[in-house]
Amino acid sequence: MNTKLIYAQELHKVLHENLELEKIITLIETPKHDTHGDLAFPCFELSKAFRKAPMAISAEVAGKINSPFFAKVEAMGPYVNVFLSREQISKEIIKEVNKEGVAYGSLDFGNGKNVVIDFSSPNIAKPFSMGHLRSTVIGNAIKKISRKCGYNVIGVNHVGDWGTQFGKLIYAYKTWGIEEDVKANPIKELFKLYVKFHDEAANNPSLEDEGRSWFKRLENGDQEAYELWTWFRDVSLKDFSRIYDLLGVEFDSFNGEAFYNDKMDKMIALLEEKDLLTESEGAMVVNLDENGMPPCLIKKSDGATLYATRDLTAALYRQETYKFDRAVYVVGGEQALHFQQLFHVLRKMGMDFVDGMSHVPFGLMLKDGKKMSTRKGKIVLLEEVINDAISLAQDNINEKNPNLSNKQETARQVGIGAVIFHDLKNERTNNVEFSLEQMLKFEGETGPYIQYTHARACSILRKGVDIELDEIKGFEDDYSWQIVKELQLFPNVIEKAFEKYEPSVVAKYLIDLAQSFNKYYGNTRVLEEDNLLISRLALVKAVVNVLNEGLRILGISAPEEM
Ligand code: ARG
Repeated sequence: MNTKLIYAQELHKVLHENLELEKIITLIETPKHDTHGDLAFPCFELSKAFRKAPMAISAEVAGKINSPFFAKVEAMGPYVNVFLSREQISKEIIKEVNKEGVAYGSLDFGNGKNVVIDFSSPNIAKPFSMGHLRSTVIGNAIKKISRKCGYNVIGVNHVGDWGTQFGKLIYAYKTWGIEEDVKANPIKELFKLYVKFHDEAANNPSLEDEGRSWFKRLENGDQEAYELWTWFRDVSLKDFSRIYDLLGVEFDSFNGEAFYNDKMDKMIALLEEKDLLTESEGAMVVNLDENGMPPCLIKKSDGATLYATRDLTAALYRQETYKFDRAVYVVGGEQALHFQQLFHVLRKMGMDFVDGMSHVPFGLMLKDGKKMSTRKGKIVLLEEVINDAISLAQDNINEKNPNLSNKQETARQVGIGAVIFHDLKNERTNNVEFSLEQMLKFEGETGPYIQYTHARACSILRKGVDIELDEIKGFEDDYSWQIVKELQLFPNVIEKAFEKYEPSVVAKYLIDLAQSFNKYYGNTRVLEEDNLLISRLALVKAVVNVLNEGLRILGISAPEEM
């Protein structure tokens, strides 16, 4: 049920061909003051057709509108304002949200079309960074939001597994590496070797040549180089998968940069064919002067390909393979120029599908105001951070609810929910200050607060009786009405979150709904045995459904007890 649409339809019955339904919908406003009603329609645009002043029109239109969903219709100056019937509307909404078999808020405008979401995409042999965590969490939410809108989603992990750095790593491993150490602690040891390479190369520049030559061998399919690289890749992916399991994130494809090795020639030939390649200091580039951008490097003077070469190839491959309607790259803001270049080159190639492509950037993760990074030696290991969050959650639970049966699993859900919600609650382009203490609070705008509200609502339902949808009556009071208005918004919230690729829209909505519910709960004797008991329980159940679904969309579990 959509009250704006209902009002628009009623208006359309009166206005006929004078105004299209779509146009009416866009004109309807929400009055600034509650005392002026719930919806308002301005009559200015009608004065030509009616050859009357807007004030006169509003009086005429108001007199002709009448619907069981409106308690009162009133002309207020040039506006026609309606006061919704709280009782009728709350009854309908509560029924709708409680309907079996349909997840409330699901939309179908995606029509099963494909959306490719490129997210997480860490670099092998390096620790999983805070930036990659943000990409993982934001990308996963966009994935679920897109599905909720009726799209078919393909989640791609464009693993960073190719480039000169792997030549350096091979050299470093062969020179200083110890197999057992790498086996015991792959990422940590490989990263140490990589750091050592750079330290040594600072005094001995010839090492750079060694690194380059090993990468050359790797590119040429040298067996030793290839076996080492495969090993590095395997152990890295295994390590990353522990993080993905913890977070409950899945991918449909792990085709990373190396996957495009044998596909780049074709793409380069196409650039040549379209006369887009020019030589610049021995390198092959696509000139982007007319776009006011530096050229896009396709091939270095030594013949080596680059990040952009692989991304261009990947774009063509993905369009060919998935015929995507949209393709989304969830990658930090530092790479904005790279993606602009990529999209401009595709446009020059005549690839119209570029219209559906977007770079979805996000801000930095900060600790005490400074970027949290994997600086030399000082590695912030993401897994440790997540495990810290879980153990803090465990402490909180021990304090608040020591007899909880499922403590360990609940602590995991709460700890991870806290990390995810903390990331998603602000607009993604903002920086995030990482504070375990803040994110794990049970009050305020946190994941645990939403989860706790959900669990509290679940516990009320456990004490209540079965809900019969036919017996539901509507409500008149302010606390219930506030909840109903918010429940009604959920589908719009999903659509808006999708259009902006902005999970924070959902997160903020959940905070509002949880707050409204807690106010309601503080002022209502929900379990009182009167003739509204079933209706109140149905309202509580509706809140449970939407909190649960909203959290699910953000990639967060909703425990029933905590
Ligand atoms: N591996 C890259 C990095 O860590 C991110 C890759 C993003 N995806 C892409 N198609 N370029 O910076």
